[in-house]
Amino acid sequence: MSSVNYAEKIPNNVNLVSDRTLQRALEHWQPHFIEWWKGMGPSDFQSADVYLRTATSVDAQGWATYGTVKMPDYRWGIFLADQQAERKIGFGDQMGQPVWQQVPGEYRSTLRRLIVTQGDTEPASVEQQRLLGHTCPSLYDLRNLFQINVEEGRHLWAMVYLLHAYFGRDGREEAEELLARHSGDADKPRILTTFNEPISDWLSLYCFTYFTDRDGKYQLKSLAESAFDPLSRTCRFMLTEEAHHMFVGETGIGRVVKRTLEVMKEIGTDDPAKVRAAGAVDLPTLQKYLNFWCSSSLDLFGSEISSNSAANFANGLKGRPDETQYQDHVLRASSFKMMTPAGAEEVPMLNALNEVMRESYLKDCEIGLKRWNRQIERAGFSLRLTLPSSRFRRTIGAWAGQPVDPEGHMLSKEDYERKLGQWIPTEADRAFVHSLMQKVTEPGKMAAWIAPPERGINNLPVEYEYVKLH
Ligand SMILES: [Fe+2]
Ligand SMILES: [Fe+2]
Repeated sequence: MSSVNYAEKIPNNVNLVSDRTLQRALEHWQPHFIEWWKGMGPSDFQSADVYLRTATSVDAQGWATYGTVKMPDYRWGIFLADQQAERKIGFGDQMGQPVWQQVPGEYRSTLRRLIVTQGDTEPASVEQQRLLGHTCPSLYDLRNLFQINVEEGRHLWAMVYLLHAYFGRDGREEAEELLARHSGDADKPRILTTFNEPISDWLSLYCFTYFTDRDGKYQLKSLAESAFDPLSRTCRFMLTEEAHHMFVGETGIGRVVKRTLEVMKEIGTDDPAKVRAAGAVDLPTLQKYLNFWCSSSLDLFGSEISSNSAANFANGLKGRPDETQYQDHVLRASSFKMMTPAGAEEVPMLNALNEVMRESYLKDCEIGLKRWNRQIERAGFSLRLTLPSSRFRRTIGAWAGQPVDPEGHMLSKEDYERKLGQWIPTEADRAFVHSLMQKVTEPGKMAAWIAPPERGINNLPVEYEYVKLH
């Protein structure tokens, strides 16, 4: 068990107290973080009392300590999963050698780039979601939003710790830059496109947490395999928090489906216009949102054929999620059959790892779809929700800019342009979804377009006042 000194400014299990240089760097950065949080974090709710989970240590009791706090007073800490004794590199050309406790000089800039790219997504998502509190469907949902926001803030801390502790002056500069870029900013946008997309309604939030936080899970899992042990341990602990973000997405969409089915039964039709008139999200519109966020998130895995991912794997920097499930951990002798617009291509396996990861991600995405489709089937309706093809609407890799429909079929450019509005939300669809977003803050009450959750947080009732607004 790791102990925490509550008197410390920054709760941690990295022995900050004995490392003066690091402590000074982090204490210097902290006021900038708080400034960023107040300016770019959840708008208008900084004085609310929120029932939040805080990590105070990494053991079973401490990682989820519940209590009421005002968000700016949240104890953003630095926690690494416990060190595994004699951990060895689990893949790549240096497999079997001891893992690294320091950054090898030859991998310094690549590792820094990997950490900065991951770190950039964390505050980006807080910025994307900052206005959602004004249209929350319930106090329960509002609390979940804020829980995700403070944890993404902690994930930023986790990456900044690595930059400060292992990358000297460039690390400190990168840490400042993480607060200087902003989601959607014309001059200084966030690094990855998906994290510059606005999230202005709760249906988008649920899709984002379902698809984009799940990309986060896959990235963290592959970095958790890293031979750079502090990175591995940091990511392993972040994964425990990430699970809740995906839970919010999966149950959020499930509750939308449930409410829509209730309305469809009440009015005796699945006619989208009538479902909308009755104040629910019609399933075809939900499908468009799924198509949008899934395809956007698929780009985050990078190009199908990538020499960077090959080098990162061969050098032991970034593995495959759950590396131990595979037989071959070196991959110098295997190949992968890839479909590109030019036809099937045989690619060295090392160069195909982004695609391998994308495929296992899509399998993971199917789980929720099955659950929602069972709900629809049980209600006696024939529509089924689906995931778009990984070729649809890609902006990176072999399929970038190709006119492909959600089933993966190639069309003419004209057909594609004409039909795109049937596949992803149009302005009118977004306007309709926005029109549903009315703030509900009476404890236990839900907006009309979403069903209540099955249970509350930490065994509390759904009616609990999770956010006290004053
Ligand atoms: Fe995160
Ligand atoms: Fe997350």
